[in-house]
Amino acid sequence: MEFSLKDYLRKKEKIINDKLNSIMTRLSNNSLMRETMTYSLMAGGKRLRPILCLAGAEIVKSDYKKAVTTACAIEMIHTYSLIHDDLPAMDNDELRRGMPTLHIKYKKYRGEAIAILAGDGLLTLAFEIMLSDAAKAKNPLPLIKAANLIADAAGYNNIIAGQTEDILSEGKKRTLSKIEKIDSLKTGALINASVLSGAIIGGADLKRQKSLEIYAKNIGFAFQITDDILNVVGDQKTMGKAVGTDKTNLKNTFPDIMGLDKSKKYAENLIKNALKALDKFDDKLAEPLKAVALYVIERNK
Ligand code: IPE
Ligand code: IPE
Ligand code: MG
Ligand code: MG
Repeated sequence: MEFSLKDYLRKKEKIINDKLNSIMTRLSNNSLMRETMTYSLMAGGKRLRPILCLAGAEIVKSDYKKAVTTACAIEMIHTYSLIHDDLPAMDNDELRRGMPTLHIKYKKYRGEAIAILAGDGLLTLAFEIMLSDAAKAKNPLPLIKAANLIADAAGYNNIIAGQTEDILSEGKKRTLSKIEKIDSLKTGALINASVLSGAIIGGADLKRQKSLEIYAKNIGFAFQITDDILNVVGDQKTMGKAVGTDKTNLKNTFPDIMGLDKSKKYAENLIKNALKALDKFDDKLAEPLKAVALYVIERNK
């Protein structure tokens, strides 16, 4: 049967959403925080990172089920990063995933404080669920290695460093290689950790991990370039977030410096490299990750 990316994404999205729902409904106490964390988490993102994690396990012939908790943790970290990214002190956005951003939605409760705390809540919950998953496992080492990788991607070496540079670069002229660095830190690292954590949980050997890292680094950078292209040419309603904001915020982006066409070509080339990195994998097993790579640049949201 021919591979359908649409079906694959739909199936995996449901697995992630069901698990996230069950984790969130089990949280007791503090109902305001549970409500606000759930609001942003379940607002309907593409679930690309957790899907990459499950696909990372599948490409090495493993059962994706082993990676579901880790995949959910990655989505929690991603959602926290968006909640904080949208704060007035950062990108100052009022729309995310087609809904008011958390600090806007909960204005009547001191929205910014609530958004900071809900973000903190999701970030810590991510590590709590990964560690309790590992603590219960017969073979915890791969789960611990995966969590370690994710912590590094989320932390001061990567997302935090990238977001800091992104903010400090507003209104300043940055070179393309500097922008590439920022993009790989703020966005590429978590995408890389998504694929690799799945692969490690799935038992990938070092050679395969290396190839998957090349794949992931290329799609991660292409993902951010496409995000920046869509910020210029995309449709707000389709994307569920505001467009034109990179210009207002004086952000340094590829499309701003090299223009839309060249940026698109650049991203296409990155995807070619990503596909090449999967050459040595079994054709059938590599289908999901190959299709996701193309989706990264063809998407309209
Ligand atoms: C947006 O990520 C933020 C970036 C790192 C570019 P996504 O485009 O994956 O956002 P959701 O999860 O679908 O909302
Ligand atoms: C978001 O980057 C990166 C992180 C949240 C870590 P952007 O600020 O470019 O993403 P959007 O365009 O707001 O989704
Ligand atoms: Mg930002
Ligand atoms: Mg932003």
